[in-house]
Amino acid sequence: MAADDQPKQFPHTPVLLERIVELFTPTLEGAGKVVVDATLGMGGHAEALLERFPELTLIGLDRDTDALAIAGERLTRFGDRVHLVHTVYDGILEAIASVAEERGSDDDLVDGVLFDLGVSSLQLDRAERGFAYSKDAPLDMRMDRTTGITAADVIASYDERDLRSIFQRYGEEKLASRYAKAIVERRAVKPFERSGDLVDVLTKATPVAVQRQGHPAKRVFQALRIEVNAELSVLEHAIPAAMDALRVGGRLVVEAYQSLEDRIVKREIAARTTSSAPADLPVELPEHLPTFTPVIKGAEMADDAERAANPRATPVRLRAAERIRIRA
Ligand SMILES: C[S@@+](CC[C@H](N)C(=O)[O-])C[C@H]1O[C@@H](n2cnc3c(N)ncnc32)[C@H](O)[C@@H]1O
Repeated sequence: MAADDQPKQFPHTPVLLERIVELFTPTLEGAGKVVVDATLGMGGHAEALLERFPELTLIGLDRDTDALAIAGERLTRFGDRVHLVHTVYDGILEAIASVAEERGSDDDLVDGVLFDLGVSSLQLDRAERGFAYSKDAPLDMRMDRTTGITAADVIASYDERDLRSIFQRYGEEKLASRYAKAIVERRAVKPFERSGDLVDVLTKATPVAVQRQGHPAKRVFQALRIEVNAELSVLEHAIPAAMDALRVGGRLVVEAYQSLEDRIVKREIAARTTSSAPADLPVELPEHLPTFTPVIKGAEMADDAERAANPRATPVRLRAAERIRIRA
């Protein structure tokens, strides 16, 4: 094979790849199975699932058109087993319905849904996207660059109270008030244009002792990213929708990297894996029975070997649940 014909190499190893394949094995093996990868990214998990389950159809969602282009190229060899949809993942039910229609099927249920939350290595590595506080770039941070407000818009237009509130809520930042004040004071003199300006202002507003505990911009950048992409409210709609889309025996598998997202996933799985019967009801009615069972008790984390091999796996919380009945 000539060098140009070699399959492209994708340097980033998907997090907990083998474990994800294992969790899906009981539900995706066999003919006619459909999985949704709700966070396609560069298609690493998707590629492994398509390879391991040769009859599988995959619906891949991403709000980032760059990711869809890269994953599309990577997955071309699987032909019509792959359907890619440019959407925010709370549009999962519409995406499944449109792919079913395209395939001439009226079956709107699927056998698996995977979420690998957060930003991709691609988004972090491309400095011009503005996600990385370590790289000076325009303050963008939109996962979908075709629409919506940028981090620069937030920094320029939110009042001090709103800035403080997002830094507190989405960054769990103890110095939120100090940072909001510093930003408002600085922008009155000169508008922020690049992430480097913001990092400078945050660093100057941080006591030296605190600077030693970690990068001063880390939590503010996380908060801005969550605000710009409405990440938490979208996830609050997407997880229930994904669970509704599963047929009996189908599995939801979620990898979350920060506590705010993990809490949403944990809450929704807990709600569906426990009885909804009021405590004082003598008999449990069918409509109160749980519709899911946990596949993993609580959350699983990466072991030392995985963390050493793939540092991105360090903060991961993995949760999974299987549908056991449709609500009566
Ligand atoms: C961690 S990466 C996924 C990596 C992927 N599992 C792989 O193996 O390459 C997360 C991806 O989800 C996408 N994403 C994040 N939030 C999204 C949302 N609300 N709707 C759709 N896609 C989203 C991001 O654009 C990014 O490409």
